[in-house]
Amino acid sequence: MTDLSLLTDQLTSLLAGETNRVTMLANASALLNDTLPDINWAGFYLYNEATGQLDLGPFQGKVACMHIAPGQGVCGTAYATGQIQRVADVHQFPGHIACDSASNAEIVIPLPGLGVLDIDSPTKDRFSAADEAALTTFAATLQHQLDTAAASSVQ
Ligand code: SME
Repeated sequence: MTDLSLLTDQLTSLLAGETNRVTMLANASALLNDTLPDINWAGFYLYNEATGQLDLGPFQGKVACMHIAPGQGVCGTAYATGQIQRVADVHQFPGHIACDSASNAEIVIPLPGLGVLDIDSPTKDRFSAADEAALTTFAATLQHQLDTAAASSVQ
């Protein structure tokens, strides 16, 4: 199992002083993609207040579905319920949206008011409770840094 204990520290160092939210999310997705073994997609869907949909944000992986309604698929369910979705087999998840046919497992962490962090793997049951805990801390730190950036930037 990969040691994810440094992941959040790496994020904090990487984003220190940055105020552009797209820039921060782009490098956060690259860090996840570089650090987590056996994944095929890592990125963000961001809530669009004008449309009421989740829009594809910065990510690493194959081209993906660009808009997801809250409540739809794994991402929309995580956003609408505010509950982490750790799915061992996406083919058993009602309404799962198949973007990359290689994906078999998925974890989605809600970012309240912002959107979701979505990570896919080709391996069923890829994401452990320990992964969920590490990614929850990662997401909370990222959201804190984004909030700080929003307070100090017009972007
Ligand atoms: N599988 C997701 C859609 C996004 S892709 O995995 C990148 C879902 O069901 O919400």
